[in-house]
Amino acid sequence: MAESMQGLKRTHRCGELSAANIGETVTIMGWVQKNRNKGGLDFVDVRDRSGIIQAVFEEGKTDSALLEKAAKLRAEYVVAIVGKVERRSGAVNTNISTGEIEIIPQELRVLSEAETPPFQVEENSKTKEEVRLKYRYLDLRRPDMQRNLLMRSRVATLTRQFLADEGFLEIETPVLVGSTPEGARDYLVPSRIHHGHFYALPQSPQLFKQLLMCSGCDRYFQLAKCFRDEDLRADRQPEFTQIDMELSFVDVDDVIDVNERLLEKLFREILGVEVSLPIPRMTWQEAMDRYGSDKPDIRFGMELRDVTEAVKDSEFAVFKGAIENGGTVRGINAKGQGGMPRKKIDKLVSFAKDFGAKGLAYIAIQEDGSVKSSFAKFMTEEEMKALIDAMEGENGDLLLFAADKNKVVWDVLGNLRLELARQMDLLDKSEYKFIWITEFPLLEWSEEENRYTAMHHPFTMPMEEDLQYIDSEPGRVRAKAYDIVLNGNEIGGGSVRIFNPEIQSKMFEVLGFTPERAQEQFGFLLTAFKYGVPPHAGLAYGLDRLVMLMAKQDSIRDVIAFPKVKDASDLMTEAPTPVDQKQLDELGLAIVDEEENQ
Ligand code: AMO
Ligand code: AMP
Repeated sequence: MAESMQGLKRTHRCGELSAANIGETVTIMGWVQKNRNKGGLDFVDVRDRSGIIQAVFEEGKTDSALLEKAAKLRAEYVVAIVGKVERRSGAVNTNISTGEIEIIPQELRVLSEAETPPFQVEENSKTKEEVRLKYRYLDLRRPDMQRNLLMRSRVATLTRQFLADEGFLEIETPVLVGSTPEGARDYLVPSRIHHGHFYALPQSPQLFKQLLMCSGCDRYFQLAKCFRDEDLRADRQPEFTQIDMELSFVDVDDVIDVNERLLEKLFREILGVEVSLPIPRMTWQEAMDRYGSDKPDIRFGMELRDVTEAVKDSEFAVFKGAIENGGTVRGINAKGQGGMPRKKIDKLVSFAKDFGAKGLAYIAIQEDGSVKSSFAKFMTEEEMKALIDAMEGENGDLLLFAADKNKVVWDVLGNLRLELARQMDLLDKSEYKFIWITEFPLLEWSEEENRYTAMHHPFTMPMEEDLQYIDSEPGRVRAKAYDIVLNGNEIGGGSVRIFNPEIQSKMFEVLGFTPERAQEQFGFLLTAFKYGVPPHAGLAYGLDRLVMLMAKQDSIRDVIAFPKVKDASDLMTEAPTPVDQKQLDELGLAIVDEEENQ
């Protein structure tokens, strides 16, 4: 039976008690972690978000009614205990902060009973994620999840403090906005009042923050919920949070400066980690050439090498064909992996194929200097030597090569590099390596749409020196865009914006917008720009990704209180759900069967 807490007031959280409280009478409230009854002696561990404290009910010391009541306590009962803090009579538990002390209870109240939970509330749960998410409120009681939520809260609080001190205003932008089909797919919300019309949930506050610069707000930030209907992965959720900011009268260096100091503060105050400033910068081109990725993990080497020159005269059809088609041949050197069994190499080949490779050529240099290779028979001895030299191959090394269009070669080797690093255990989660990637291409060619699309978004400023190519070679134009990358994860990105109407019109033209369509979709922004717009730039972090890395987690789901799963559903509330016909009628909507929709 549930008892009232009337007349009691909590004096401490469980984990706040220590030897300094010995002799004090305290009142704690929390959940029963464990109850070990040894007949006349009962050890009850009580847990709250701060930690665990042991209460000891003992015949002779505790009155018998209380002892009897304690014996009935089960895991996850919510209790209040009033008692005296004493030094532990038994062995000290060095695993917990309260390990030197225990409470000798004078009063026990059961505030709430609990059924046997579907899984035990404990650190490092082995319980399947689906079960954890269905009972997320229980899962969140676990100490590791509590720590993640606490860290997320601290990141948010410190960010607010820092940005406020730097002169940023926190301003909310709307969540019901117009749909802009550039970028990911929108989540749509039907309008009841305007049948057939829809709001979209914002993919980011991009347009509004630029408008706030037009309004003279000068510096804006927001912890903004963003919504994108895209395929989910470990680092992607349909709704996620950005630390979003925009600044007036600034260029790339100003944005980078304030953000480096923000990161320095967060890592210092939360993790005690010193981020050495300035954070290194690398152009997109260099990142692709050296790491095959625009979000390179620079915690380890194994860099890509272009060996096109070394193999250009060989008769190996794979290499020859790729080069003739305007592609390149590049390789990576997996140091000390030359003895890798054939089966494991075959797995790497199929891994490479998953990323679009037609194959993966290899040279396994044995410890005695002999080589095993999938293509030696097509090469002369000199050519093999030149190739191994170009890769700085030594005895015991495994050299892997991809030959194709640059885009494929980068993607294949970039991913292979990461896979090998995982296999070779080269990734240390307590090491934090930041890098800025700059000078992204402004545009990228979309095979699907047969047109250029904006690599960042259509409001990103081209680099002045490249503007001359915008008509003749649009693919060559670089942008004033930058990403901040941490341990191979894109944790944030931004750009200097176009504030010149002619350049903006040109950009829309290159993206294949007619002036009418540009007006229709972004007219309010273009109009706003006619009334005096300051030069401006900004950036947004994925807060979830940042906290995931700080908390050394593998998935952003572990730092989001109530995340969704791969099919974008919520296992606890079961959203999305069907709705009543009445609701549909009000909105003027009818559901079409999936078969009819084909
Ligand atoms: P961008 O689209 O690069 O830029 O997004 C900024 C950051 O948000 C994070 N992110 C995500 N996190 C979780 N789940 C997702 N589905 C998801 N998508 C993106 C990433 C990313 O770096 N308005 C611009 C910013 C600007 O130009 O100022 C923008 O949204 O960490
Ligand atoms: P093949 O002559 O097709 O049997 O290929 C010989 C070797 O080259 C095999 O190890 C293939 O995996 C590899 N290979 C095939 N296509 C490519 C490619 N595009 N890049 C690198 N290696 C390749």
